[in-house]
Amino acid sequence: MADGAGGAGPESSGPVNPLRDGRDKRLPRIAGPCSLVIFGVTGDLARKKLMPAVYDLANRGLLPPGFALVGFARRDWSDQDFGLIVHDAVREHSRTPFREDVWERLSEGIRFVEGTFDDAGAFERLKTTLAQLDVERGTGGNHAFYLSIPPGAFPTVCEQLSTSGLAVGDDDSWRRVVIEKPFGRDLQSAKELNAVVNRVFPEDTVFRIDHYLGKETVQNILALRFANQLFDPIWNAHYVDHVQITMAEDIGLGGRAGYYDGIGAARDVIQNHLLQLLAITAMEEPVSFRPSELQTEKIKVLSATKLAEPFAETAARGQYTAGWQGSQRVKGLKEEEGFDAESNTETYAAITLEVDTRRWSGVPFYLRTGKSLGRRVTEIAVVFKRAPHLPFDATMTEELGQNALVIRVQPDEGVTMRFGSKVPGSSMQVRDVSMDFSYGQAFTESSPEAYERLILDVLLGEPSLFPVNEEVELSWKILDPILEFWASGGTADPYEAGTWGPESANEMMERTGREWRRP
Ligand code: BG6
Repeated sequence: MADGAGGAGPESSGPVNPLRDGRDKRLPRIAGPCSLVIFGVTGDLARKKLMPAVYDLANRGLLPPGFALVGFARRDWSDQDFGLIVHDAVREHSRTPFREDVWERLSEGIRFVEGTFDDAGAFERLKTTLAQLDVERGTGGNHAFYLSIPPGAFPTVCEQLSTSGLAVGDDDSWRRVVIEKPFGRDLQSAKELNAVVNRVFPEDTVFRIDHYLGKETVQNILALRFANQLFDPIWNAHYVDHVQITMAEDIGLGGRAGYYDGIGAARDVIQNHLLQLLAITAMEEPVSFRPSELQTEKIKVLSATKLAEPFAETAARGQYTAGWQGSQRVKGLKEEEGFDAESNTETYAAITLEVDTRRWSGVPFYLRTGKSLGRRVTEIAVVFKRAPHLPFDATMTEELGQNALVIRVQPDEGVTMRFGSKVPGSSMQVRDVSMDFSYGQAFTESSPEAYERLILDVLLGEPSLFPVNEEVELSWKILDPILEFWASGGTADPYEAGTWGPESANEMMERTGREWRRP
Protein backbone atom coordinates (compact mmCIF):
# COMPACT_ATOMS: atom_id res chain seq x y z
CA MET A 1 0.00 0.00 0.00
CA ALA A 2 0.93 3.58 -0.25
CA ASP A 3 1.89 3.88 3.30
CA GLY A 4 4.07 1.14 3.45
CA ALA A 5 3.00 -2.41 3.65
CA GLY A 6 5.34 -2.19 0.64
CA GLY A 7 6.88 -5.63 0.96
CA ALA A 8 10.42 -5.70 2.17
CA GLY A 9 11.09 -8.26 -0.54
CA PRO A 10 13.25 -11.38 -0.50
CA GLU A 11 16.10 -9.61 1.26
CA SER A 12 13.83 -8.93 4.19
CA SER A 13 15.38 -11.52 6.48
CA GLY A 14 17.83 -8.77 7.51
CA PRO A 15 16.78 -5.61 9.33
CA VAL A 16 14.09 -3.68 7.48
CA ASN A 17 15.30 -0.39 6.08
CA PRO A 18 12.46 2.08 6.63
CA LEU A 19 14.01 4.54 4.21
CA ARG A 20 13.74 2.35 1.12
CA ASP A 21 12.29 4.39 -1.73
CA GLY A 22 13.67 7.51 -0.05
CA ARG A 23 10.93 7.99 2.52
CA ASP A 24 10.37 6.67 5.99
CA LYS A 25 7.05 4.98 5.43
CA ARG A 26 6.23 4.91 9.12
CA LEU A 27 5.80 8.68 9.15
CA PRO A 28 2.38 10.13 8.35
CA ARG A 29 2.05 11.36 4.81
CA ILE A 30 1.09 15.00 4.52
CA ALA A 31 -0.31 16.44 1.31
CA GLY A 32 1.61 19.23 -0.42
CA PRO A 33 0.07 22.66 -1.15
CA CYS A 34 -3.05 22.26 -3.29
CA SER A 35 -6.74 22.93 -3.62
CA LEU A 36 -9.70 20.58 -3.75
CA VAL A 37 -12.58 21.75 -5.92
CA ILE A 38 -15.87 19.98 -5.24
CA PHE A 39 -18.60 19.96 -7.88
CA GLY A 40 -21.90 18.97 -6.32
CA VAL A 41 -21.34 20.60 -2.93
CA THR A 42 -25.06 20.81 -2.28
CA GLY A 43 -25.44 17.01 -2.36
CA ASP A 44 -25.68 14.59 0.54
CA LEU A 45 -22.30 12.99 -0.10
CA ALA A 46 -20.49 16.33 0.11
CA ARG A 47 -22.28 17.29 3.31
CA LYS A 48 -22.11 13.98 5.12
CA LYS A 49 -18.77 12.61 3.93
CA LEU A 50 -16.52 14.89 1.85
CA MET A 51 -16.50 18.13 3.85
CA PRO A 52 -16.24 16.32 7.21
CA ALA A 53 -13.38 14.19 5.83
CA VAL A 54 -11.49 17.33 4.75
CA TYR A 55 -11.86 18.73 8.27
CA ASP A 56 -10.77 15.42 9.85
CA LEU A 57 -7.64 15.45 7.69
CA ALA A 58 -6.93 19.03 8.75
CA ASN A 59 -7.48 18.06 12.37
CA ARG A 60 -5.03 15.19 12.05
CA GLY A 61 -2.45 17.60 10.66
CA LEU A 62 -2.40 15.90 7.25
CA LEU A 63 -3.28 18.95 5.16
CA PRO A 64 -0.66 21.60 4.42
CA PRO A 65 -1.04 25.23 5.50
CA GLY A 66 -1.42 26.04 1.80
CA PHE A 67 -4.68 24.16 1.31
CA ALA A 68 -7.90 25.47 -0.20
CA LEU A 69 -11.40 24.02 -0.48
CA VAL A 70 -13.47 25.38 -3.33
CA GLY A 71 -17.18 24.72 -3.78
CA PHE A 72 -18.87 25.00 -7.17
CA ALA A 73 -22.69 25.02 -7.42
CA ARG A 74 -25.72 26.83 -8.71
CA ARG A 75 -26.33 28.84 -5.55
CA ASP A 76 -26.18 32.50 -4.82
CA TRP A 77 -23.58 32.04 -2.07
CA SER A 78 -20.61 34.12 -0.98
CA ASP A 79 -17.41 32.48 0.31
CA GLN A 80 -18.73 33.15 3.82
CA ASP A 81 -22.09 31.51 3.08
CA PHE A 82 -20.32 28.43 1.78
CA GLY A 83 -18.02 28.52 4.82
CA LEU A 84 -21.10 28.28 7.04
CA ILE A 85 -22.38 25.30 5.08
CA VAL A 86 -19.03 23.54 5.50
CA HIS A 87 -18.96 24.49 9.18
CA ASP A 88 -22.38 22.95 9.82
CA ALA A 89 -21.52 19.80 7.89
CA VAL A 90 -18.32 19.44 9.91
CA ARG A 91 -20.03 20.04 13.25
CA GLU A 92 -22.64 17.47 12.41
CA HIS A 93 -20.68 14.72 10.69
CA SER A 94 -16.93 14.90 11.36
CA ARG A 95 -15.30 11.93 13.06
CA THR A 96 -12.80 13.87 15.15
CA PRO A 97 -13.66 16.52 17.77
CA PHE A 98 -14.28 20.08 16.64
CA ARG A 99 -11.36 22.41 17.34
CA GLU A 100 -11.80 26.12 16.80
CA ASP A 101 -8.13 26.71 15.82
CA VAL A 102 -8.19 23.96 13.17
CA TRP A 103 -11.45 25.28 11.77
CA GLU A 104 -10.12 28.88 11.67
CA ARG A 105 -7.11 27.80 9.60
CA LEU A 106 -9.18 25.65 7.26
CA SER A 107 -11.85 28.28 6.74
CA GLU A 108 -9.29 30.83 5.56
CA GLY A 109 -8.89 28.74 2.42
CA ILE A 110 -12.60 28.22 1.67
CA ARG A 111 -13.96 29.77 -1.55
CA PHE A 112 -17.17 29.46 -3.54
CA VAL A 113 -17.83 29.81 -7.24
CA GLU A 114 -21.42 30.19 -8.40
CA GLY A 115 -22.39 28.64 -11.70
CA THR A 116 -23.98 25.91 -13.76
CA PHE A 117 -22.03 23.17 -15.50
CA ASP A 118 -22.80 24.52 -18.95
CA ASP A 119 -21.75 28.09 -18.17
CA ALA A 120 -18.30 28.75 -19.62
CA GLY A 121 -18.17 32.04 -17.70
CA ALA A 122 -18.44 30.15 -14.41
CA PHE A 123 -15.39 28.06 -15.32
CA GLU A 124 -13.50 31.26 -16.14
CA ARG A 125 -14.43 32.51 -12.66
CA LEU A 126 -13.23 29.21 -11.21
CA LYS A 127 -9.96 29.66 -13.06
CA THR A 128 -9.54 33.16 -11.64
CA THR A 129 -10.34 31.92 -8.13
CA LEU A 130 -7.76 29.13 -8.42
CA ALA A 131 -5.14 31.56 -9.75
CA GLN A 132 -5.80 33.85 -6.79
CA LEU A 133 -5.44 30.91 -4.41
CA ASP A 134 -2.12 30.05 -6.01
CA VAL A 135 -0.95 33.52 -4.99
CA GLU A 136 -2.73 33.91 -1.65
CA ARG A 137 -2.42 30.38 -0.28
CA GLY A 138 0.54 29.13 -2.32
CA THR A 139 -1.42 26.23 -3.83
CA GLY A 140 1.14 26.18 -6.62
CA GLY A 141 -1.20 25.31 -9.50
CA ASN A 142 -2.03 21.93 -7.93
CA HIS A 143 -5.74 21.31 -8.19
CA ALA A 144 -7.99 18.26 -7.73
CA PHE A 145 -11.50 18.36 -9.19
CA TYR A 146 -13.97 16.16 -7.35
CA LEU A 147 -17.04 15.34 -9.46
CA SER A 148 -19.67 14.43 -6.89
CA ILE A 149 -22.34 14.88 -9.57
CA PRO A 150 -24.65 12.68 -11.66
CA PRO A 151 -22.68 10.81 -14.34
CA GLY A 152 -24.77 12.49 -17.03
CA ALA A 153 -22.98 15.73 -16.13
CA PHE A 154 -19.42 14.27 -16.34
CA PRO A 155 -18.93 15.03 -20.06
CA THR A 156 -19.98 18.68 -19.70
CA VAL A 157 -17.79 19.33 -16.67
CA CYS A 158 -14.79 17.56 -18.22
CA GLU A 159 -15.20 19.56 -21.44
CA GLN A 160 -15.49 22.82 -19.52
CA LEU A 161 -12.39 22.04 -17.48
CA SER A 162 -10.57 21.30 -20.70
CA THR A 163 -11.77 24.39 -22.59
CA SER A 164 -10.95 26.70 -19.71
CA GLY A 165 -7.44 25.24 -19.59
CA LEU A 166 -7.94 23.91 -16.07
CA ALA A 167 -7.50 20.23 -16.89
CA VAL A 168 -3.72 20.30 -17.39
CA GLY A 169 -1.11 21.84 -15.15
CA ASP A 170 2.36 22.94 -16.17
CA ASP A 171 5.53 20.92 -15.64
CA ASP A 172 5.71 21.88 -11.97
CA SER A 173 2.10 21.33 -10.99
CA TRP A 174 -0.56 18.64 -11.20
CA ARG A 175 -4.26 18.38 -12.03
CA ARG A 176 -6.38 15.39 -11.01
CA VAL A 177 -10.00 14.43 -11.41
CA VAL A 178 -11.97 12.35 -8.93
CA ILE A 179 -15.11 10.62 -10.11
CA GLU A 180 -17.81 9.05 -8.03
CA LYS A 181 -19.77 5.99 -9.02
CA PRO A 182 -21.89 4.94 -10.81
CA PHE A 183 -19.39 4.56 -13.67
CA GLY A 184 -22.06 3.88 -16.24
CA ARG A 185 -24.92 1.39 -16.12
CA ASP A 186 -23.40 -1.37 -18.26
CA LEU A 187 -20.18 -2.15 -20.13
CA GLN A 188 -21.08 -0.04 -23.15
CA SER A 189 -21.95 3.11 -21.19
CA ALA A 190 -18.88 2.66 -18.95
CA LYS A 191 -16.69 2.56 -22.05
CA GLU A 192 -18.29 5.73 -23.36
CA LEU A 193 -17.87 7.44 -20.00
CA ASN A 194 -14.24 6.40 -19.73
CA ALA A 195 -13.60 7.67 -23.25
CA VAL A 196 -15.06 11.06 -22.38
CA VAL A 197 -13.04 11.36 -19.18
CA ASN A 198 -9.83 10.12 -20.81
CA ARG A 199 -10.17 12.58 -23.71
CA VAL A 200 -9.57 15.30 -21.14
CA PHE A 201 -7.69 13.64 -18.29
CA PRO A 202 -4.90 11.09 -18.85
CA GLU A 203 -5.67 7.82 -17.04
CA ASP A 204 -2.99 8.40 -14.41
CA THR A 205 -4.75 11.59 -13.32
CA VAL A 206 -8.17 9.92 -12.96
CA PHE A 207 -9.15 8.71 -9.48
CA ARG A 208 -12.32 6.60 -9.45
CA ILE A 209 -13.75 6.37 -5.98
CA ASP A 210 -14.87 3.05 -4.59
CA HIS A 211 -15.14 4.00 -0.95
CA TYR A 212 -15.01 0.37 0.21
CA LEU A 213 -11.34 0.31 -0.71
CA GLY A 214 -10.78 3.16 1.73
CA LYS A 215 -12.10 1.10 4.63
CA GLU A 216 -9.43 -0.15 7.04
CA THR A 217 -10.96 -3.60 7.24
CA VAL A 218 -10.84 -4.00 3.47
CA GLN A 219 -7.17 -3.08 3.42
CA ASN A 220 -6.69 -5.51 6.29
CA ILE A 221 -7.62 -8.36 3.93
CA LEU A 222 -4.28 -7.70 2.27
CA ALA A 223 -2.48 -7.79 5.62
CA LEU A 224 -4.30 -10.93 6.69
CA ARG A 225 -3.54 -12.74 3.46
CA PHE A 226 -0.05 -11.56 2.67
CA ALA A 227 1.58 -10.81 6.01
CA ASN A 228 0.81 -14.22 7.50
CA GLN A 229 1.85 -17.74 6.80
CA LEU A 230 -1.18 -19.21 8.53
CA PHE A 231 -3.86 -18.69 5.90
CA ASP A 232 -2.27 -18.98 2.48
CA PRO A 233 -1.81 -22.78 2.44
CA ILE A 234 -5.56 -23.28 2.92
CA TRP A 235 -6.75 -20.32 0.78
CA ASN A 236 -7.68 -22.43 -2.23
CA ALA A 237 -10.02 -24.99 -3.75
CA HIS A 238 -8.43 -27.88 -1.83
CA TYR A 239 -9.71 -26.52 1.47
CA VAL A 240 -12.32 -23.86 0.75
CA ASP A 241 -15.87 -25.03 0.09
CA HIS A 242 -17.29 -21.64 -0.86
CA VAL A 243 -17.07 -17.92 -0.11
CA GLN A 244 -20.00 -15.71 0.93
CA ILE A 245 -19.71 -11.96 0.56
CA THR A 246 -22.56 -10.10 2.23
CA MET A 247 -23.35 -6.40 2.28
CA ALA A 248 -26.61 -5.97 4.18
CA GLU A 249 -28.19 -2.64 5.04
CA ASP A 250 -30.93 -2.18 7.59
CA ILE A 251 -32.35 0.99 6.08
CA GLY A 252 -34.60 1.40 3.06
CA LEU A 253 -34.20 3.88 0.24
CA GLY A 254 -35.74 6.87 2.00
CA GLY A 255 -34.86 10.07 0.15
CA ARG A 256 -32.74 8.19 -2.43
CA ALA A 257 -35.66 6.33 -3.99
CA GLY A 258 -35.79 8.58 -7.05
CA TYR A 259 -32.08 8.09 -7.76
CA TYR A 260 -32.14 4.36 -7.09
CA ASP A 261 -35.16 3.53 -9.25
CA GLY A 262 -33.76 2.14 -12.50
CA ILE A 263 -30.34 1.42 -10.95
CA GLY A 264 -30.93 -1.33 -8.39
CA ALA A 265 -28.79 -3.28 -5.95
CA ALA A 266 -26.56 -5.03 -8.50
CA ARG A 267 -25.48 -1.83 -10.24
CA ASP A 268 -25.36 0.19 -7.03
CA VAL A 269 -23.01 -2.00 -5.02
CA ILE A 270 -22.22 -5.39 -6.60
CA GLN A 271 -20.58 -3.94 -9.70
CA ASN A 272 -18.18 -1.96 -7.54
CA HIS A 273 -17.91 -2.67 -3.79
CA LEU A 274 -18.66 -6.39 -3.78
CA LEU A 275 -16.63 -7.27 -6.87
CA GLN A 276 -13.70 -5.33 -5.43
CA LEU A 277 -14.04 -7.35 -2.21
CA LEU A 278 -14.07 -10.52 -4.29
CA ALA A 279 -11.00 -9.39 -6.22
CA ILE A 280 -9.00 -8.71 -3.06
CA THR A 281 -10.10 -11.97 -1.45
CA ALA A 282 -9.36 -14.11 -4.50
CA MET A 283 -6.36 -12.46 -6.19
CA GLU A 284 -2.83 -13.81 -6.16
CA GLU A 285 -0.12 -12.14 -4.10
CA PRO A 286 1.07 -9.00 -5.86
CA VAL A 287 4.79 -8.73 -6.58
CA SER A 288 4.77 -5.58 -4.44
CA PHE A 289 2.22 -3.09 -3.22
CA ARG A 290 3.05 -0.66 -5.98
CA PRO A 291 -0.28 0.46 -7.50
CA SER A 292 0.36 -1.16 -10.86
CA GLU A 293 1.20 -4.54 -9.28
CA LEU A 294 -1.93 -4.53 -7.17
CA GLN A 295 -4.06 -3.57 -10.16
CA THR A 296 -2.45 -6.28 -12.27
CA GLU A 297 -3.55 -8.95 -9.79
CA LYS A 298 -7.07 -7.57 -9.45
CA ILE A 299 -7.43 -7.38 -13.22
CA LYS A 300 -6.22 -10.98 -13.58
CA VAL A 301 -8.75 -12.34 -11.13
CA LEU A 302 -11.63 -10.26 -12.49
CA SER A 303 -10.78 -11.50 -15.99
CA ALA A 304 -11.18 -15.06 -14.71
CA THR A 305 -14.51 -14.40 -12.98
CA LYS A 306 -17.90 -15.14 -14.50
CA LEU A 307 -21.50 -15.70 -13.43
CA ALA A 308 -22.57 -19.27 -12.79
CA GLU A 309 -25.56 -20.40 -14.88
CA PRO A 310 -28.45 -21.04 -15.32
CA PHE A 311 -29.43 -17.68 -13.84
CA ALA A 312 -32.89 -18.86 -12.87
CA GLU A 313 -31.14 -21.12 -10.35
CA THR A 314 -27.95 -19.27 -9.46
CA ALA A 315 -29.26 -15.77 -8.83
CA ALA A 316 -32.13 -14.09 -7.00
CA ARG A 317 -33.56 -10.60 -6.74
CA GLY A 318 -36.10 -8.94 -4.49
CA GLN A 319 -37.95 -5.83 -3.43
CA TYR A 320 -38.76 -5.03 0.19
CA THR A 321 -42.31 -4.67 1.39
CA ALA A 322 -43.48 -3.02 4.60
CA GLY A 323 -42.22 -4.68 7.76
CA TRP A 324 -40.52 -4.17 11.10
CA GLN A 325 -37.03 -2.96 11.92
CA GLY A 326 -36.85 -3.88 15.59
CA SER A 327 -39.90 -2.29 17.13
CA GLN A 328 -40.32 0.22 14.32
CA ARG A 329 -42.80 -0.20 11.51
CA VAL A 330 -41.09 0.65 8.19
CA LYS A 331 -42.39 1.45 4.73
CA GLY A 332 -42.30 -0.87 1.79
CA LEU A 333 -40.45 0.17 -1.33
CA LYS A 334 -43.57 1.04 -3.27
CA GLU A 335 -44.57 3.56 -0.62
CA GLU A 336 -41.20 5.39 -0.81
CA GLU A 337 -41.48 8.81 -2.36
CA GLY A 338 -40.04 9.03 -5.85
CA PHE A 339 -40.21 5.28 -6.53
CA ASP A 340 -42.44 4.23 -9.37
CA ALA A 341 -44.89 1.69 -7.91
CA GLU A 342 -44.69 -0.33 -11.16
CA SER A 343 -40.90 -0.45 -11.15
CA ASN A 344 -39.14 -3.78 -11.09
CA THR A 345 -35.84 -2.36 -9.80
CA GLU A 346 -34.33 -4.76 -7.26
CA THR A 347 -33.35 -3.71 -3.74
CA TYR A 348 -31.93 -7.18 -3.06
CA ALA A 349 -29.63 -9.15 -5.31
CA ALA A 350 -27.77 -12.43 -4.90
CA ILE A 351 -25.50 -13.95 -7.52
CA THR A 352 -23.15 -16.91 -7.85
CA LEU A 353 -19.73 -16.41 -9.40
CA GLU A 354 -17.05 -18.78 -10.57
CA VAL A 355 -13.39 -17.85 -10.56
CA ASP A 356 -11.70 -19.94 -13.21
CA THR A 357 -8.18 -20.16 -11.86
CA ARG A 358 -6.17 -23.06 -10.48
CA ARG A 359 -6.66 -21.64 -6.98
CA TRP A 360 -10.44 -21.32 -7.14
CA SER A 361 -11.74 -23.76 -9.70
CA GLY A 362 -15.00 -25.29 -8.42
CA VAL A 363 -15.37 -22.90 -5.48
CA PRO A 364 -18.55 -20.80 -5.75
CA PHE A 365 -18.45 -17.19 -4.62
CA TYR A 366 -21.89 -16.10 -3.43
CA LEU A 367 -22.47 -12.35 -3.36
CA ARG A 368 -25.58 -10.80 -1.82
CA THR A 369 -26.71 -7.34 -0.90
CA GLY A 370 -29.96 -5.74 0.11
CA LYS A 371 -31.70 -2.74 1.57
CA SER A 372 -33.99 -2.98 4.59
CA LEU A 373 -32.57 -6.30 5.75
CA GLY A 374 -32.38 -7.59 9.33
CA ARG A 375 -29.07 -5.91 10.23
CA ARG A 376 -26.38 -3.64 8.83
CA VAL A 377 -23.42 -5.90 8.22
CA THR A 378 -20.73 -6.36 5.61
CA GLU A 379 -18.60 -9.47 5.83
CA ILE A 380 -16.58 -11.93 3.81
CA ALA A 381 -16.96 -15.50 5.01
CA VAL A 382 -14.50 -18.09 3.72
CA VAL A 383 -16.23 -21.38 4.50
CA PHE A 384 -14.03 -24.47 4.56
CA LYS A 385 -14.75 -28.04 3.53
CA ARG A 386 -15.61 -30.56 6.17
CA ALA A 387 -12.83 -32.76 7.48
CA PRO A 388 -12.62 -35.82 5.21
CA HIS A 389 -13.02 -38.15 8.17
CA LEU A 390 -14.39 -37.69 11.69
CA PRO A 391 -13.22 -40.37 14.14
CA PHE A 392 -16.12 -39.60 16.48
CA ASP A 393 -19.42 -41.20 17.05
CA ALA A 394 -21.82 -39.49 14.60
CA THR A 395 -24.07 -38.29 17.43
CA MET A 396 -21.10 -36.42 18.93
CA THR A 397 -20.68 -34.10 15.94
CA GLU A 398 -24.26 -33.18 15.15
CA GLU A 399 -23.59 -29.59 16.21
CA LEU A 400 -20.34 -29.28 14.30
CA GLY A 401 -20.61 -27.01 11.25
CA GLN A 402 -18.02 -26.07 8.68
CA ASN A 403 -14.93 -24.16 9.73
CA ALA A 404 -15.06 -20.56 8.63
CA LEU A 405 -12.91 -17.47 8.60
CA VAL A 406 -15.08 -14.36 8.64
CA ILE A 407 -13.66 -10.95 7.86
CA ARG A 408 -16.04 -8.49 9.50
CA VAL A 409 -15.81 -5.38 7.34
CA GLN A 410 -18.40 -3.46 9.35
CA PRO A 411 -19.69 -2.78 11.92
CA ASP A 412 -17.74 -4.35 14.82
CA GLU A 413 -14.71 -4.56 12.55
CA GLY A 414 -12.51 -7.61 12.99
CA VAL A 415 -12.01 -11.26 12.13
CA THR A 416 -13.76 -14.34 13.49
CA MET A 417 -12.58 -17.91 13.16
CA ARG A 418 -15.11 -20.67 13.64
CA PHE A 419 -14.02 -24.20 14.47
CA GLY A 420 -15.13 -27.24 16.43
CA SER A 421 -14.26 -27.72 20.09
CA LYS A 422 -14.90 -30.34 22.72
CA VAL A 423 -17.88 -29.62 24.90
CA PRO A 424 -16.80 -29.91 28.57
CA GLY A 425 -17.95 -33.18 30.08
CA SER A 426 -17.28 -36.87 30.05
CA SER A 427 -18.27 -37.49 26.41
CA MET A 428 -16.38 -36.47 23.28
CA GLN A 429 -19.04 -34.15 21.99
CA VAL A 430 -17.83 -31.48 19.53
CA ARG A 431 -19.53 -28.17 18.84
CA ASP A 432 -18.76 -24.96 16.95
CA VAL A 433 -17.01 -22.19 18.85
CA SER A 434 -15.52 -18.95 17.63
CA MET A 435 -12.38 -16.96 18.22
CA ASP A 436 -12.50 -13.23 17.68
CA PHE A 437 -10.15 -10.43 16.80
CA SER A 438 -11.76 -7.04 17.21
CA TYR A 439 -10.20 -3.79 16.00
CA GLY A 440 -11.82 -1.89 18.85
CA GLN A 441 -10.09 -4.05 21.44
CA ALA A 442 -6.75 -4.66 19.77
CA PHE A 443 -5.92 -1.07 18.84
CA THR A 444 -6.31 2.19 20.68
CA GLU A 445 -6.39 4.34 17.51
CA SER A 446 -9.80 4.70 15.92
CA SER A 447 -9.96 3.98 12.20
CA PRO A 448 -10.13 6.90 9.77
CA GLU A 449 -13.23 7.18 7.62
CA ALA A 450 -12.84 5.74 4.12
CA TYR A 451 -13.19 9.19 2.55
CA GLU A 452 -10.40 10.63 4.71
CA ARG A 453 -8.01 8.04 3.42
CA LEU A 454 -9.12 8.37 -0.18
CA ILE A 455 -9.14 12.17 -0.33
CA LEU A 456 -5.66 12.22 1.19
CA ASP A 457 -4.49 9.69 -1.42
CA VAL A 458 -5.88 11.88 -4.21
CA LEU A 459 -4.00 14.90 -2.89
CA LEU A 460 -0.84 12.80 -2.60
CA GLY A 461 -1.29 11.30 -6.07
CA GLU A 462 -1.32 7.78 -4.63
CA PRO A 463 -3.55 5.58 -6.83
CA SER A 464 -3.36 2.13 -5.14
CA LEU A 465 -6.87 2.24 -3.71
CA PHE A 466 -8.63 3.45 -6.85
CA PRO A 467 -9.93 1.01 -9.45
CA VAL A 468 -8.60 1.65 -12.92
CA ASN A 469 -10.60 1.81 -16.11
CA GLU A 470 -10.00 -1.85 -16.89
CA GLU A 471 -11.30 -3.05 -13.52
CA VAL A 472 -14.47 -1.03 -13.95
CA GLU A 473 -15.06 -2.40 -17.43
CA LEU A 474 -14.31 -5.99 -16.38
CA SER A 475 -16.78 -5.66 -13.52
CA TRP A 476 -19.52 -4.60 -15.94
CA LYS A 477 -18.56 -7.42 -18.25
CA ILE A 478 -19.11 -9.87 -15.38
CA LEU A 479 -22.44 -8.36 -14.38
CA ASP A 480 -24.04 -7.45 -17.71
CA PRO A 481 -25.46 -10.93 -18.49
CA ILE A 482 -27.53 -11.08 -15.28
CA LEU A 483 -28.72 -7.50 -15.74
CA GLU A 484 -29.86 -8.40 -19.25
CA PHE A 485 -31.50 -11.60 -18.01
CA TRP A 486 -33.44 -9.71 -15.34
CA ALA A 487 -34.42 -6.98 -17.81
CA SER A 488 -35.73 -9.61 -20.23
CA GLY A 489 -38.62 -10.71 -18.02
CA GLY A 490 -39.82 -11.89 -14.63
CA THR A 491 -40.24 -9.83 -11.51
CA ALA A 492 -38.31 -9.18 -8.33
CA ASP A 493 -39.56 -11.35 -5.44
CA PRO A 494 -41.02 -9.58 -2.42
CA TYR A 495 -39.34 -9.77 0.99
CA GLU A 496 -40.52 -8.21 4.18
CA ALA A 497 -38.40 -5.35 5.53
CA GLY A 498 -36.35 -6.50 8.52
CA THR A 499 -35.88 -10.07 7.20
CA TRP A 500 -32.95 -11.56 5.27
CA GLY A 501 -34.26 -11.26 1.74
CA PRO A 502 -36.60 -13.18 -0.57
CA GLU A 503 -37.25 -16.89 -0.25
CA SER A 504 -35.81 -17.35 -3.75
CA ALA A 505 -32.36 -16.40 -2.37
CA ASN A 506 -32.58 -19.18 0.23
CA GLU A 507 -33.69 -21.64 -2.43
CA MET A 508 -30.73 -20.62 -4.56
CA MET A 509 -28.40 -21.79 -1.77
CA GLU A 510 -30.43 -24.86 -0.82
CA ARG A 511 -30.10 -26.14 -4.39
CA THR A 512 -26.38 -26.48 -3.77
CA GLY A 513 -26.80 -28.00 -0.32
CA ARG A 514 -25.58 -24.83 1.40
CA GLU A 515 -27.16 -22.01 3.33
CA TRP A 516 -26.61 -18.31 3.88
CA ARG A 517 -24.97 -17.28 7.08
CA ARG A 518 -27.12 -15.33 9.53
CA PRO A 519 -24.58 -12.73 10.63
C1 BG6 B 1 -22.95 3.42 -1.63
C2 BG6 B 1 -24.29 2.99 -2.19
O1 BG6 B 1 -21.95 3.24 -2.56
O2 BG6 B 1 -22.67 2.65 -0.46
C3 BG6 B 1 -25.38 3.11 -1.15
O3 BG6 B 1 -24.61 3.79 -3.32
C4 BG6 B 1 -24.99 2.39 0.12
O4 BG6 B 1 -26.61 2.61 -1.65
C5 BG6 B 1 -23.61 2.83 0.58
O5 BG6 B 1 -25.95 2.70 1.11
C6 BG6 B 1 -23.16 2.02 1.78
O6 BG6 B 1 -21.93 2.48 2.25
P1 BG6 B 1 -21.40 2.08 3.69
O7 BG6 B 1 -20.02 2.62 3.74
O8 BG6 B 1 -22.34 2.70 4.68
O9 BG6 B 1 -21.47 0.59 3.76
